[in-house]
Amino acid sequence: MREGSEVISVDAEWLGASGGLELDLGCARGVFLVQMAEANPGRNFLGVERQKLRVCRTQKKIRNKNLENARVIGGEIVEVLEQVVPPESADWLHVLFPDPWPKRRHAPRRLLQPRSFSAFHRVLKCGGRLRFLTDQEFYWRETLKFVGLLDGWVLTGEDPVGGWPKTEFQGRFESQGIASYGWILEKR
Ligand SMILES: C[S@@+](CC[C@H](N)C(=O)[O-])C[C@H]1O[C@@H](n2cnc3c(N)ncnc32)[C@H](O)[C@@H]1O
Repeated sequence: MREGSEVISVDAEWLGASGGLELDLGCARGVFLVQMAEANPGRNFLGVERQKLRVCRTQKKIRNKNLENARVIGGEIVEVLEQVVPPESADWLHVLFPDPWPKRRHAPRRLLQPRSFSAFHRVLKCGGRLRFLTDQEFYWRETLKFVGLLDGWVLTGEDPVGGWPKTEFQGRFESQGIASYGWILEKR
């Protein structure tokens, strides 16, 4: 991993635990991660976040709540998926309100673009799900232009919003009356 990345006690045994594994990619301060871990004690939850302060805040929440089934890694999402997470180990990947980079010249910085999907595909089990939410309708529409055409994936039509704990950003957006858009893809 690149210099400055910080891996906090994530071992292969924990990642391969029989109850299953879910990844929160860009977990910020761990609001969603911690709620999921508390609600599902038999399953493991790994957050990935590039901002060091947010990694520390997430780590602190996990420690304060004595959650054995939650961990966080400081680093770049695609690098962590390629170098740390074993192939076919995850049941769910959550990509929740990723930075939208709305300017056309910044589009290559967006996390959701066709070249990232091989890293997502590698770590998911067959039948595993990739869940995406955004407050930016244009971003959702852009992704819909290509996700249905990607080899090895199928759009499920499942509701990506209802029935899940809210993320920190989702709470902020909803309090301002801003809707969420998204989809769930299944790995074939
Ligand atoms: C807009 S925030 C959303 C946070 C959270 N998912 C939520 O919904 O509340 C996006 C987060 O992803 C992190 N992030 C963006 N790109 C990343 C990358 N390539 N690798 C790791 N973290 C990333 C940012 O630092 C930020 O904390």
